[in-house]
Amino acid sequence: MSRRLLISGNWKMNLDHLQAIHLVQDLGLRLTAADVAGLDVTVHPPFTDLRSVQSVVEERRIPVELGAQDCAPDDAGAFTGEVSPVMLARLHVAYVIAGHSERRRLFGETDEVVAAKLRAIVRNGMTPICCVGETADERDAGATRERLVAQVSSAAGALAPEQVGSMAIAYEPVWAIGTGSAATPEDAQEACAWVREAVGDVAGADAATTVRVLYGGSVTADNTAELVAMPDVDGVLVGGASLEATAFAAIIRSANGVG
Ligand code: PGA
Repeated sequence: MSRRLLISGNWKMNLDHLQAIHLVQDLGLRLTAADVAGLDVTVHPPFTDLRSVQSVVEERRIPVELGAQDCAPDDAGAFTGEVSPVMLARLHVAYVIAGHSERRRLFGETDEVVAAKLRAIVRNGMTPICCVGETADERDAGATRERLVAQVSSAAGALAPEQVGSMAIAYEPVWAIGTGSAATPEDAQEACAWVREAVGDVAGADAATTVRVLYGGSVTADNTAELVAMPDVDGVLVGGASLEATAFAAIIRSANGVG
């Protein structure tokens, strides 16, 4: 079993298109082919930055793939303010995050909406990174596993088994996001194993073997190596530390040292 590590930088609502160009150029200067040889790296800028980042990445052959942070469940139509997955695919977006806890919590995204987005992403030839994770209250109530199983079952049930097998699922405990206190490698491993098991129950053993399960929540260059060393952790989804080229490059290098 060899799953390729995936290191993804979620820029959230940060950096205008000029700052975005700067960051990705800086990343390009810091990353060598050897740094990324054993893994996949994605950056997820805001929508308004995508075209600029795409141009720089393709012109300078920077070894990262383009990602988006969200997309509409529909391909086109009267959906004011939404961004179509067709448009993202045309910009060579390869990966799209769906169901980030900020979207679930602040914008009311339900499991059903997330499922529709996953189908839209796959329908347009892109790879979803579906986020799941428990709140602090759910964790304190001992409901972490139950919460993950519900979210993962809904997500995996939305797609055909082979589509599930090629997607990524990011386990992001809500209490660890942006707090500076990441899950321990042992806790991340336990939760990621539950995620994989839930995938197996819905989509079968092959999908469970190949699906990539990432950890996200206060990832830094200091904790990356021990996280991705865990057998069921196949990469990291990085927020704050992906906004600086030095920090993100250090995360990529430390993951590569393990993979
Ligand atoms: P963080 O965010 O790395 O800043 O904690 C992670 C995420 O929300 O994807």
